[in-house]
Amino acid sequence: LWKSILLVLFAYLLGSIASAVLVARALRLPDPRQHGSGNPGATNILRLGGKRAAALTLLGDMLKGLVPVLVARGLGLDGWPLASVALAAFLGHLFPLYFGFRGGKGVATALGILLAYVPLLGLCVLLTWIVVFAWRRVSSLAALVATLIAPLLAWAFALPLPAKSLVLTLAILVLWRHRSNLSRLLRGEESGFRPS
Ligand code: G3P
Repeated sequence: LWKSILLVLFAYLLGSIASAVLVARALRLPDPRQHGSGNPGATNILRLGGKRAAALTLLGDMLKGLVPVLVARGLGLDGWPLASVALAAFLGHLFPLYFGFRGGKGVATALGILLAYVPLLGLCVLLTWIVVFAWRRVSSLAALVATLIAPLLAWAFALPLPAKSLVLTLAILVLWRHRSNLSRLLRGEESGFRPS
């Protein structure tokens, strides 16, 4: 049990590292929490600082999800304890300890988690994001469609209950974090990658 608790803590502390804020500081870009969409994520960093900065942010946020799941699995965790570690990393990104509990929307971190947890499902979700993005060039729309697909795949793949519950919880939280994107999309006012 102690191993699980320590790993949950480690995952939350790692998840709390806001890659977007650190990349913006390192490259002297505007603070993504104050500019663009106001979201500390790769999409907004792309608006503010271009592709290299966005790629770094994306990588950092994905690794925060991927690494704790791989470490926990390597240390023998499975089932609910493993799902808890994954969720802790994700909650760290949404509610970061070091950044006033105001974090991002969770797309990259959820993807990192899924790629480590159920690689095939993670790849399908990533592919969905890429296809929708290639079609409409709007990051939030790609994220919303990929988020809706993930739980459907979890059931189609007949994943064990802890994995299904994790995927559903991540999807609900990502959708909730995109509520302002959703209303902008419905009004036809979503900014995509253009500076907003
Ligand atoms: O991953 C976040 C993305 O889906 C939307 O970001 O900055 O357009 O709100 P943003």
